[in-house]
Amino acid sequence: MIDPFGRHIRYLRVSVTDRCDFRCVYCMAEDMEFLPKREVLTLEELDRLCSAFVRLGVKKLRLTGGEPLVRRGIMQLFRALSRHLASGALEELTVTTNGSQLSRYAAELADLGVRRVNVSIDTLDERKFAEITRRGSLPVVLQGLEAAKRAGLQVKINAVALKGVNDGEFDRLIGWCGAEGFDLTLIEVMPMGDIGGENRLDQYLPLSLVRADLAQRWTLDDIDYRTGGPARYVRVKETSGRLGFITPLTHNFCESCNRVRVTCTGMLYMCLGQEDSADLRAPLRAQSGDDALLEAAIREAIARKPKGHDFIIDRRHSGPAVPRHMSVTGG
Ligand code: GTP
Ligand code: 5AD
Ligand code: SF4
Repeated sequence: MIDPFGRHIRYLRVSVTDRCDFRCVYCMAEDMEFLPKREVLTLEELDRLCSAFVRLGVKKLRLTGGEPLVRRGIMQLFRALSRHLASGALEELTVTTNGSQLSRYAAELADLGVRRVNVSIDTLDERKFAEITRRGSLPVVLQGLEAAKRAGLQVKINAVALKGVNDGEFDRLIGWCGAEGFDLTLIEVMPMGDIGGENRLDQYLPLSLVRADLAQRWTLDDIDYRTGGPARYVRVKETSGRLGFITPLTHNFCESCNRVRVTCTGMLYMCLGQEDSADLRAPLRAQSGDDALLEAAIREAIARKPKGHDFIIDRRHSGPAVPRHMSVTGG
């Protein structure tokens, strides 16, 4: 699949549930209302949907949420999708998770062909972790990470950079990830969804500043490590660890975008930072049960993928640039 700007679409991110056992302050409001079950695609429908994308050329498939591992029966979906790894049609099947269920699932994920997992940890301070996630427990996530290591999974830690919250902790995260053998990506907070009283301008920390500050204490060597995701990586000489920067605001990476996302109700979003979407649930649930309709709807949507997002955070635009919450598409 090639979009109007000549970009090959090879990376699909699928949100398998809007639910989550955490309520991270930058992602959800405290009192979220979740979708009724009938709105949400069944595991069989998710399999059909992902398989259609694989037929159309997707090579990298990431399950997200909400929290993907709280969806009941989720391992059935991983098992079904792993056939595309076995056939060679798919290069990577992976997951972005808050880590709360990793102790339970890490070994099975590895068995099913998952090689890497991305886990959100914004702070190693237990109390602060509880504040940011509102319901999460750091020790539980750390146990999950131990299980991931034992299972041989490669781990990337995601930390959203939050001014006045975790900006004093990047050194500690870098040291810890280096020692654990985890990659680390720092992420600029994106203005999505009404998250209650919080002001994005108060939270926003440009990573250009963070990088300049880190460079005073660490030797950061540019490296050409590519995952197909948006991070640009350096090697931290002192730890030998990889450190990535995801900079939608200070350094837009839309030019090289290779991805689209589908929500758990089957809405295809061609860009994280735009509202245009295409309904794939209707063709999935059409009487004919024929995947030709579904594939045609996907192609049509890719043909109108926008050039990029219009995220902006400044004094005049303190509200969300995009009304839907991050948890709708899982980032
Ligand atoms: P890798 O395969 O390890 O590179 O994963 P990834 O970075 O693609 O996925 P992950 O789920 O770890 O996402 C990390 C952050 O990148 C999240 O905050 C996502 O919202 C953000 N992200 C991923 N793709 C895009 C994108 O196309 N645009 C923007 N603005 N952010 C993105
Ligand atoms: N801005 C940037 N990243 C976000 N994430 C969730 N909400 C936001 C936001 N508003 C991150 C999570 C997770 C990843 C999928 O997206 O920390 O690691
Ligand atoms: Fe849940 Fe992830 Fe959103 Fe946090 S960022 S509330 S863990 S979906």
